[in-house]
Amino acid sequence: MKKICVLPGDGIGPEIVAQALAVLDKVGERFNHSFEYEEALIGGAAIDADGVPLPEETVAKCRKADAVLLGAVGGPKWDEIDPSIRPEKGLLGIRKELGLFANVRPATLFPQLKESCYLRPDIVEKGLDVMVVRELTGGIYFGEPRMDGEKDGQRYGFNTMVYYEDEIRRIARVAFEAARKRDGRVCSVDKANVLDVSRVWREIVIDEHANYSDVELTHMYVDNAAMQLVRDPSQFDVMVTGNLFGDILSDEAAAITGSIGMLPSASLGAGNPGLFEPIHGSAPDIAGQDKANPLATILSISMMLRHAFDMAKEADCIDKAVQDTLSNGLRTGDIMSEGYRLVGCREMGEAVLSALD
Ligand code: NAD
Ligand code: IPM
Ligand code: MN
Repeated sequence: MKKICVLPGDGIGPEIVAQALAVLDKVGERFNHSFEYEEALIGGAAIDADGVPLPEETVAKCRKADAVLLGAVGGPKWDEIDPSIRPEKGLLGIRKELGLFANVRPATLFPQLKESCYLRPDIVEKGLDVMVVRELTGGIYFGEPRMDGEKDGQRYGFNTMVYYEDEIRRIARVAFEAARKRDGRVCSVDKANVLDVSRVWREIVIDEHANYSDVELTHMYVDNAAMQLVRDPSQFDVMVTGNLFGDILSDEAAAITGSIGMLPSASLGAGNPGLFEPIHGSAPDIAGQDKANPLATILSISMMLRHAFDMAKEADCIDKAVQDTLSNGLRTGDIMSEGYRLVGCREMGEAVLSALD
């Protein structure tokens, strides 16, 4: 029996998580596994109930689980709240508590969604299959000192982008290992022409590469990488980068797959349960309207089965059901194009369930 701690969170979180759990139930039935769910509060939902975005009870439930599933956190309701207890702090907190330093974000353009891609057809034809490996518990997100205050009669604020050698080595290893299972190429993205922290990043990635001489390593400045990702995404296999650059580049990569509603992720560390989460947010503009695309969350379940439970054939089955559903012509609003059938979150989820049969 596998225990999953479920954190639906805010906005579209509960809607997409419901569809993803229905898929997991079906996989359990079909392959004779039993999955047990325990729900816990995070983000705005936790603030409303408990006054904090990450109650201790939630951390304890996550620790006891074999894996964690997250919907999304945040929304306009909590935008004016004391920054130290914003909903986003809940997510950052659970990543840190569980030591989930590696966020793996595979951006794949399914052939069925070529028409949803914003790039020129000749670029789309070459395909997109990039794995963004984002450092998740360090960098400017967590660096100290940080400050929001007043100085010389002016408001001012700063954050610190800091990386220690061991943080860089362990994320580089995740990228090199991932590349070995793919096309054997890693591009490390930094801003080493300007930032000291990036020079150290590059130096350590090069040093760690000595243990992976079978993998090709290149380096790119982040501004160029953002440009190359839309100019010629097929040049990339694995991209490894820091917390902030990875956040930005993975949203960009997601747009190339048709929509941010398509991109799953796995947040992994050593020894603790992994957290599986779509890369998008709580989408307040469409929350509660049955319009959200549940596929990123359903694909995050597939990543959970593969990474946390070693259930590759079950994961393959979900991936295939998602592609079959797209082949059958169903589209949520974010991936809709002419000639397809517009459906809501629930109908899309139900279609994936039928495709699993
Ligand atoms: P967002 O990802 O929530 O939304 C950006 C745009 O993409 C919106 O137009 C939204 O409707 C659309 N979108 C996102 N997911 C979709 C889906 N599954 N199906 C269809 N359309 C989808 O980003 P934002 O608007 O910048 O942030 C909204 C809130 O979410 C903020 O509070 C932010 O901090 C939070 N956020 C949370 C996470 C997370 O929990 N992992 C990630 C990003 C943003
Ligand atoms: C993401 C989100 C989070 C991040 C926020 C909500 C803390 O944007 O998961 O990509 O920046 O990591
Ligand atoms: Mn993000």
